[in-house]
Amino acid sequence: MPALTLERLLSGIGFGSRKEARALVRMGLVELDGKVLEDPFVEFETRPENITVNGEEVPTVEKLYVMLHKPTDVECSHNARDHQSVFALLPDRFTAMGIQTVGRLDADSSGMILLSNQGDFIHKLESPKKGFLKRYRVTLARPFTEAQKAELLKGVMLKDERRPVFAREIVEERVAIDGVETDTVVITIGEGLYHQVRRMFAAVGNHVETLERISIGNLQLDQSLGLGGWRFLTAEELALFA
Ligand code: URA
Repeated sequence: MPALTLERLLSGIGFGSRKEARALVRMGLVELDGKVLEDPFVEFETRPENITVNGEEVPTVEKLYVMLHKPTDVECSHNARDHQSVFALLPDRFTAMGIQTVGRLDADSSGMILLSNQGDFIHKLESPKKGFLKRYRVTLARPFTEAQKAELLKGVMLKDERRPVFAREIVEERVAIDGVETDTVVITIGEGLYHQVRRMFAAVGNHVETLERISIGNLQLDQSLGLGGWRFLTAEELALFA
């Protein structure tokens, strides 16, 4: 393995090519433990946890595992057309590091989005075979009936799909949303088909008004992240997907 020089370290965490990283160092913009680092070729025996670039302390991890609380009117795409891109809510350097979303949420939906630059992690979480269930809280335009619930649990055929899809669990909950007591339905599904939850409720004659993803596998949305907020996953959280 080549030695971990400062220019390599900076480039590996999204601060451009090695040449661009060298330029940052030469401009005096890189500090470690309060001291300006002047030599881009200085070698680290062990990777420092954080480094300061242009006044901002940044962690030096190269493998990104991020949870983001997506607001509505944000698209899960690098080339968002009608709304802001979810990637605009993250540091630019993450895009340079190859970050992608794990699956997608519609622009109209909110809730937990995971992002990573590790293809195997993304693939594992997206694979229906691995069985990471996804849980969504929805509000509906019409009263939710026992017949609709039974149909969703039994399975519904969606247009252009090969097999029926069914809810693994449905729980009705009255919760406060923006301070207002609201009837909601929490639905758990195993797949991640296009607009799946909206289409499932439409298939039984109802209509989803709001949709929030509240968990993936055993990982819950961290509600302390305000809308648009993000944080790195902890080692314990990552282990939930091992
Ligand atoms: N199902 C939907 O219909 N929309 C989402 O964003 C996620 C699941």
